[in-house]
Amino acid sequence: MNLIKQAHQFSQRALPVRDPNFGKPLDTSHGPILYVEGVTVSFDGFKALNNLNLYVDDGELRCIIGPNGAGKTTMMDVITGKTRPDEGSVYFGQQIDLLGLSEHQIARGGIGRKFQKPTIFEHLSVYENLELATSADKRVWFTLTRSLSGEQKDRIGSVVEQIGLKPELYRPAGLLSHGQKQWLEIGMLLMQSPRVLLVDEPVAGMTGEETERTAELLTSLAGKHSVIVVEHDMAFVRSIARQVTVLHQGSVLAEGTMDQVQNNPKVIEVYLGE
Ligand SMILES: Nc1ncnc2c1ncn2[C@@H]1O[C@H](COP(=O)(O)OP(=O)(O)OP(=O)(O)O)[C@@H](O)[C@H]1O
Ligand SMILES: [Mg+2]
Repeated sequence: MNLIKQAHQFSQRALPVRDPNFGKPLDTSHGPILYVEGVTVSFDGFKALNNLNLYVDDGELRCIIGPNGAGKTTMMDVITGKTRPDEGSVYFGQQIDLLGLSEHQIARGGIGRKFQKPTIFEHLSVYENLELATSADKRVWFTLTRSLSGEQKDRIGSVVEQIGLKPELYRPAGLLSHGQKQWLEIGMLLMQSPRVLLVDEPVAGMTGEETERTAELLTSLAGKHSVIVVEHDMAFVRSIARQVTVLHQGSVLAEGTMDQVQNNPKVIEVYLGE
């Protein structure tokens, strides 16, 4: 794909939107940063989500597991505004009703989502990709010809350290390994300083070593960000998990520590016993 076309797609994806809701600070003083309550999503009568409840605390790292078709990706689609539920409510902090906001507004407002297929610019360097992610104006030629503030340069420096790509800073992103591309994509999300990060199957296709480094990266992000991770790789989940939520047929089947859910007979029956 040529650069102009890529840039156009990117600008379509991340158009800056101002929203009055985001003028006020996020209120998490009385509880979770994310509330998903009584959410139902039907596709032609089939309930992909069925009265789903999920509460995620500020700074928490939450793993979501469950069999194929359980509704994990659909849940992320609802939180990020891609899919509208038939019923239920979804709040960001106490006051921001996510169901009233567009996908762009939600992304710009502090909920970042990492897609499985990285949307990095292959022809641009790691640095330039991160630089582009800082800009409200996503036109490549605009972004790459303006000069960055000291603060933005510092931010790129700290993000590139976090994602472990400092030695690759000036390499074209297209030459990175599969795992490195995934980390760059996470880095691009981090440039926007999201409060919540959603990652769907982050270690799919990674080598063992890349999987371990991804576990370290996601663990290091918790605290500063709330991180919600969907993954089937149980060894990986075990290595990062504090609280685990098991979805089944669009609802929460079990919740607890990894040990608790792994020993739960219902969970063994529908998922882990497979
Ligand atoms: N746009 C859609 N139209 C119709 N059915 C859909 C749509 N999106 C998802 N579904 C169905 O909803 C159910 C939940 O799908 P979802 O992708 O959320 O599952 P998942 O838990 O992410 O599964 P996997 O682990 O395989 O990724 C599945 O039965 C799926 O076929
Ligand atoms: Mg899925």
